Amino acid sequence: ETGYVTLDRGFKNTGATTSAITYLDGEKGVLRYRGYAIEELASKSSFVEVIYLLIYGHLPSHDELETFRWTVRRHTLVHEDMKKFFDGFPSKSHPMGQLSALVGALSAFYPESLNPNATDEEENLTIIKMLAKMPTIVSWIYKKSLGHPIVYPSNNLDYVTNFINMTFGQRTEDIDINPVAVSAMNTLLILHADHEQNCSTSTVRIVGSSNANLFASISAGISALWGPLHGGANQAVIEMLEKIKDDGGDCDKWINKAKDKNDPFRLMGFGHRVYKNFDPRAKIIKKACDEVLDKLGIDDPVLEIAKKLEAAALNDQYFVDRKLYPNVDFYSGIIYRALGFPTEMFTVLFALGRLPGWIAQWKEMRTNKEPIGRPRQIYTGETERSYVDISNR
Ligand code: SDX
Repeated sequence: ETGYVTLDRGFKNTGATTSAITYLDGEKGVLRYRGYAIEELASKSSFVEVIYLLIYGHLPSHDELETFRWTVRRHTLVHEDMKKFFDGFPSKSHPMGQLSALVGALSAFYPESLNPNATDEEENLTIIKMLAKMPTIVSWIYKKSLGHPIVYPSNNLDYVTNFINMTFGQRTEDIDINPVAVSAMNTLLILHADHEQNCSTSTVRIVGSSNANLFASISAGISALWGPLHGGANQAVIEMLEKIKDDGGDCDKWINKAKDKNDPFRLMGFGHRVYKNFDPRAKIIKKACDEVLDKLGIDDPVLEIAKKLEAAALNDQYFVDRKLYPNVDFYSGIIYRALGFPTEMFTVLFALGRLPGWIAQWKEMRTNKEPIGRPRQIYTGETERSYVDISNR
């Protein structure tokens, strides 16, 4: 039709949908899941309870939570035949590539998930399977990187403890799971659980809007999250901090590099499309850094560098003018590392946390019968021209 199109690169000023799941106020640095402030959920709730809240819309009663927990536990095993192609991945291949492939492959092993006209009951079972198998798959990837055998799920453990046991546990002996690690993991997963229409969530929604199955939609979201401008930033931050440490820790030098338009270097973990104030998650994680490292008796030199870098940036006009503050990725890697995770696993941990948000948004999009996503463009190519036979070219 002849109607005009408004160009909005990166959808900086475009609302793609309505949603009742997560509320952000970028100016005030406010983040709420289903109306509950992130500060309260991070300090009082558990990741499993937040999963329930995001997907079903209310804090579960004791019975609802117990039923949910047991339902999830019944699906924590992953089809053994998935190992046949999983074993083909090089052991040092990037975990995000393995994760998106494995999650996408779930549709092959659970074909009932392919029915776009599934009943609510059937759709919910697919959601439960996705939630239950993600920690198992993530632990497989970590074990492969070490050349260690996988540890099977233990259904007598809660969701996060089970994940830590599959990841750091051994076939040969039981390990003592440090409650500090379980508490820190719960907090980090809660803080990553949803964030309205960010790049990867928008990807999950648009893929799901074609009636593609949940596993395919989540696999696409994992791929979008991988980028260093998005979830991949948590890995890029630690790599950046290590580089600054090895370079002598001169923060001003690196701040100037980040400001130099001719230098591609960016201060990773800084800036945000929505938050033009502190990212409330970064505040909580920064505080948790000190507490967790102290309790674990770990002194990580990059923590001091991160704090120096933050202070220098917050006093620099370039960053102040552009309202660039630390985001969720700036301090999270320091805790992941203290818990024993290698840098390459950090973005996979972001995906594990973001999974319930992706699922809740996908479910809302389906429930609201949103139309298939199909934006327009402004054409800037050739005007019409006639075909020329190859003999005349
Ligand atoms: C996440 O959207 C979400 O909610 C994402 C997330 C979630 O929970 O899902 O919060 C998770 O992805 C957090 C962001 C992680 N990414 C990084 O830390 C990478 C570094 N940050 C930037 O690349 C950037 O800040 C973005 C990608 C986060 C936001 O990019 P925008 O909104 O498109 O902003 P922009 O790139 O247009 O930057 C505006 C200005 C530019 O300068 P000018 O052209 O105006 O002179 O600020 C500059 C940029 O050059 N700038 C930076 C910078 N971030 C922005 N300069 C130096 N270092 C930076 N980190």
